[in-house]
Amino acid sequence: MKQRSIIAVDGPAASGKSTVAQIVARKLGYLYFDTGLMYRAITWAAMENLIDMADEQAATLLAEQTTIEVQAASVDDGRPCDVLIGNTDITWEIRKPAVEANVSKIASYKGVRASLTAQQRKIGLRGNVVMVGRDIGTVVLPDADLKIYLDASPQERARRRYQELVSRGDAANFEEILAGVIERDRIDSNRAVAPLRAAPDAIVINSSEMAIDEVVDAIITLAEKMP
Ligand code: DC
Repeated sequence: MKQRSIIAVDGPAASGKSTVAQIVARKLGYLYFDTGLMYRAITWAAMENLIDMADEQAATLLAEQTTIEVQAASVDDGRPCDVLIGNTDITWEIRKPAVEANVSKIASYKGVRASLTAQQRKIGLRGNVVMVGRDIGTVVLPDADLKIYLDASPQERARRRYQELVSRGDAANFEEILAGVIERDRIDSNRAVAPLRAAPDAIVINSSEMAIDEVVDAIITLAEKMP
């Protein structure tokens, strides 16, 4: 394996990307970077500032002017990292259904994507990174050394999401979550800019019937063969 490799992991909502990528990054000693949290953070900031979700210009300006801090976890509550805007810790706020209901809209805006993509590319190009999102292999880091597209059925993804919320003590309704997963897939896959899709050279893994460890092992095996 060469020095400073880049691994891109893309896939739909709740496909297990984050869980798997965190473990892969830890095993390889790489940085784990979840780009979805940036779209979520801007969505949270837009809601906080009472910005109309239909106002593309305002959302773009917000993305350009907001500094999202991602740092090592300061609290041992299951978080992979701290996410802050200013002095506000928004790590769990950005996981709430209210943010989830609006994030696909914000992520569909060209200006928002341009701003966040530039920041992500800068981090990614330093190498030794497992970067997770929807467009990492296609747009953010098209020259990544290994591209994984992790998929799972909508039912399985909704089930995982439901369990995640319940385990944190948040209110959850399976049917609503399933509808939300399907709706987010629809918006993410059909948007004009950087739609969700596997890069032609990505390796597609369907994790519906795979345990986390099996997916991790498959990716590590592929990583060991990276040029
Ligand atoms: O992976 P996630 O569920 O945290 O992503 C939140 C939203 O952000 C989701 O609707 C898709 C969008 N997103 C994106 O458009 N591009 C990325 N690279 C990462 C996330």
